[in-house]
Amino acid sequence: MCGIIGCVGRGDQTLKTLLGGLDTLEYRGYDSAGVALANGSVQTAKKAGELDALREHLADKSLSGTVGIGHTRWSTHGPPTDENAHPHCDCSGDVAVVHNGIIENYQTLRDELAADHEFRSDTDTEVIPHLIEALLVDHDPETAVRAALDRLEGSFAITVVIAGTDAIFAARQDSPLVLGIDDGATYLASDVPAFREHTDRVVYLDDGQFVRLDNDDGGYAVTDFDGTPRDPPVETVEWDPEATGKAGYDHFMLKEIHEQPRALRQCLQGRVDELAGEVTLDIDPDISRVQFVACGTSYHAALYGAALFRAAGVPAQAFLAHEYAIQTPPIEDDLVVAVSQSGETADTLAAIREADRRGADTLALTNVVGSTMARECTDALFIRSGPEIGVAASKTFSAQLTAVNLLALATVGAGDEDVRELIGALRDLPANIQTVLDSSDARSVARDYVDSESFFFIGRGYHHPVALEGALKLKEISYTHAEGFAAGELKHGTLALVTPDTPVFAVVTGDDEAARKTIGNVKEVEARGAPVIAVTDGESDVERYADAVLEVPSTHARTAAVLANVQLQLVAYHIANELGRSIDKPRNLAKSVTVE
Ligand code: F6R
Repeated sequence: MCGIIGCVGRGDQTLKTLLGGLDTLEYRGYDSAGVALANGSVQTAKKAGELDALREHLADKSLSGTVGIGHTRWSTHGPPTDENAHPHCDCSGDVAVVHNGIIENYQTLRDELAADHEFRSDTDTEVIPHLIEALLVDHDPETAVRAALDRLEGSFAITVVIAGTDAIFAARQDSPLVLGIDDGATYLASDVPAFREHTDRVVYLDDGQFVRLDNDDGGYAVTDFDGTPRDPPVETVEWDPEATGKAGYDHFMLKEIHEQPRALRQCLQGRVDELAGEVTLDIDPDISRVQFVACGTSYHAALYGAALFRAAGVPAQAFLAHEYAIQTPPIEDDLVVAVSQSGETADTLAAIREADRRGADTLALTNVVGSTMARECTDALFIRSGPEIGVAASKTFSAQLTAVNLLALATVGAGDEDVRELIGALRDLPANIQTVLDSSDARSVARDYVDSESFFFIGRGYHHPVALEGALKLKEISYTHAEGFAAGELKHGTLALVTPDTPVFAVVTGDDEAARKTIGNVKEVEARGAPVIAVTDGESDVERYADAVLEVPSTHARTAAVLANVQLQLVAYHIANELGRSIDKPRNLAKSVTVE
């Protein structure tokens, strides 16, 4: 949510570097964008709209400078207008600031400064450059920025350039900020993809840290806000820069859907020993009870994870993180597992901080090494999907489902289930997903039903989270109403909405009692004339009641859920594509939601 980029040491490539970085950060927010370059004076350009609007605006300007900062915005305070776009400047135009997060005491600061400073935007951020401007009267630039930080309450990652200062100042408090280190050049960004094409050496800043990047030698100095020197480790990023390109696909989402076989192989690699029937992780938490916390798609993975643990006889529950943080359930000896693709979701962070305050051990199940959650939790289990740029989660959801299977098998086993069989089903997952991708009829189903105004998704047991996820995916990228249900729930009210105009996707695999009961629910909707699309492995006779079928290979119910979800991802993608939606950047959404 909001993307920040900064660089020094790039000479006349500074503006190009900033725009390139913003390109890869646009998934974090895309309602306005801007840059500021310093070279003696500070020059800024900013524009409401996607990054292309800024590029057009820049075409009439000649911005130059050798230190620069940039921003792509997801509005929190004030609508997306040119004035509210970042960077924000002081009255003189000598101080420019970009910010990700929320300044909670901005009104107090604004009231305090209002007599001598003219504010031009509705944002909370604008108080920062004015505050720095006021402090520059008695302080040198670095001291003025540090003194301003002392006054800020809330969450922020900020970068600052000041006229006449050949440096960038930046600070992090509860909002991600990472340094990229190259020979003679240094970068700052909300996320590694922003500078990955230039360097693979990174320093993850911690909350409460301040950094100064100097243009003359590309050097950097990290301290605490109070000036105490810090020497955080330089780490190496393992994925290639190409991982952040579209590789010929029309959309990142489609590319990421097709990357799932590889993502899951990476997730499983070195962790399963089929011969020994063992799963080994490099963490070994002691688990007797589990509470999962997560939001959105990750919450659906959490629901699935909780079901796996319960199947092994371990009390487990999934909570929406924002509810958990304000109404925390009793914690006995629960392990609190945060499921989060980004590892930065503010709601989920608040939940694990509350759990930690109450003495619980915490585990981050995340894709992002170096994310706040990975670093704050007692342990981290990485899902190893590689970067996901499409705002709608796809490969990371499948990898979360896979990783939570590994976690359960490694720590508590599988109850009455045969562990070897489950390991075999996990091993087969990448190839089975490939089969789905190669043979899916999702596109023709999408074309048949694209004009429907409402869709329902039903599934039972492990397929319930898949039904919820199928509906969420369709809503967020196609802007069409959809709801997912536990299959047995529809008849308790929502059946009133089922008509011949509301297609119902029913996930039914195997031929057990759960499948038979779901088929009963399918008959209920069929009797109301609703078109039924069965997502099935053909083991039951659900096809008899279906208008269309999306096939998945036969496998264990746990892994069938992953396969069924891939079919539903493709349906959502193709419906959104038929409707001409902005698939990678759906309206109003951002990839990493760093405000509560
Ligand atoms: C939907 C989606 C969101 C995220 C949610 C949590 O496609 O991506 O619902 O799942 O915002 O984000 P993370 O997983 O980063 O904590």
